Amino acid sequence: MGKGKPKGRVRVGLRIANAHLLKKLAMKTLIKNGRIVTAADEYVADLLIDGETIRLIGAQLDPALADTVIDATGLYVLPGGIDVHTHLSMPWRGIESCDDFFTGQRAALFGGTTTHVDFSIQPKGGTLRQALDLWHAKAAGKAVSDYGFHVAITDLTDAVMAEIAELPKWGVTSIKMFMAYKDSLQVDDLTLFKSMQVAAKSGVLSLVHAENGDAIEVLIAQALEAGNHAPIYHALTRPPELEAEATARAIWLAQVAGDAPLFVVHCTCEGALAAVSAARARGQHAYAETCIHYLFFTKDDLLGTDDDPFNGAKYVCSPPLRELHDQTALWRGLRTGEITSLSTDHCPWNYQEQKELGRESFAKIPNGAPGIEDRLYMLWDAGVRAGTLTPSRFVELVATNPAKLFGLYPKKGTIAVGSDADLVLWDDAAKHTVRAQTHHSAIDYNLFEGYQVTGKPVKVFVRGRLVVDGEQLLAKPGSGQFVHRTSPLLL
Ligand code: URP
Ligand code: ZN
Ligand code: ZN
Repeated sequence: MGKGKPKGRVRVGLRIANAHLLKKLAMKTLIKNGRIVTAADEYVADLLIDGETIRLIGAQLDPALADTVIDATGLYVLPGGIDVHTHLSMPWRGIESCDDFFTGQRAALFGGTTTHVDFSIQPKGGTLRQALDLWHAKAAGKAVSDYGFHVAITDLTDAVMAEIAELPKWGVTSIKMFMAYKDSLQVDDLTLFKSMQVAAKSGVLSLVHAENGDAIEVLIAQALEAGNHAPIYHALTRPPELEAEATARAIWLAQVAGDAPLFVVHCTCEGALAAVSAARARGQHAYAETCIHYLFFTKDDLLGTDDDPFNGAKYVCSPPLRELHDQTALWRGLRTGEITSLSTDHCPWNYQEQKELGRESFAKIPNGAPGIEDRLYMLWDAGVRAGTLTPSRFVELVATNPAKLFGLYPKKGTIAVGSDADLVLWDDAAKHTVRAQTHHSAIDYNLFEGYQVTGKPVKVFVRGRLVVDGEQLLAKPGSGQFVHRTSPLLL
């Protein structure tokens, strides 16, 4: 008898035993009588989670099917939120955004977001693979939610062009080009155009931060020269016309680059939205997201408070907060479909020590605002409860559309048999006052401080595991997984 044979038999035996054990161990949870919401439907039903996936949806499912039964009478059952625009542990001029992959994802979970896609950034002179390795290392051992990565191109070489075509093999199906942040992240039109061309051929979605960085640089220099250093000058040196111009330029370049699918991140103003809407009306694959803070704040918030004018630094993000009429256009876009999804651009900098770096000059204030925990309840309260959005449209904006465009669907972003059991039990009657003291991010302030909202998550599941139960975090660091994304499902 050959030496290998008995071993082989033992291995097979073990495999069968393990499979049997796993099957026995796979926890089954039955959620009864919840109001299930998808982008298409809303209905009361029972839902059986088997291990990591949704196994059954039906009426009056037998409690004997499950190990645990949860009564969700009176609660909504929503797919876990998907935030495709975050910057955890993001480096900037020698400092890092103050949420890491544990604190940022913890905050996300408490707000009902179960998957996010973070921006890895190509080091100048480095490769995309290096960027991704760096970001994988940031998440390792810390993740409590699921996550993916985009990669931001900062230095386009022939080797990097070849890497863009490789990205889908690495589970990454979106690249980002910054048209602003001169002398750091900004790329020129040549890089933008060539990257879009190769992305279009490779099943990769092109993302742009659309502001004219060159013109902004001139305006910043002139403001500083004139002695204008306060946070409000951040907004005044980045006027909406420069966002509208860059948005239109990116759209036309994408059209010529083989109708490259284009996703305009953090769209803030009427002019930029009009450019996206016009492109969509022509049939171009152009999409806009906006972010939660643009729906609630205006550039006046950069003026700060009477006792602390520098308080305006908390609201410094790019593109900047705009005017009320822009806000109105964004709400309209969310309702009508001109805007495809809502993200956060969560890029948290502590007020103390980080935002304060810009006390003497607005140009030194780290750009970015927090929101990863606040996105769902702020939109629910001001959108769904106010009657502007239906629960289904809400789900489409915060979960289903981002899942489709970013290659996560139907594994994530919906409630269907076979999908990951990423679920939020949502109490439409629960009242909550937003406070930095009680939020779950590491940041020392909350933009929505003092807002009283109704509607919030009471239980959150990631791949079938209960990760948030009321005020308790049950997920263990390291339990979150990198999600290998597929090519965009174009809408
Ligand atoms: O101000 C912002 N948005 N900071 C993060 C980087 C970016 O532009 O998305
Ligand atoms: Zn940006
Ligand atoms: Zn961003």
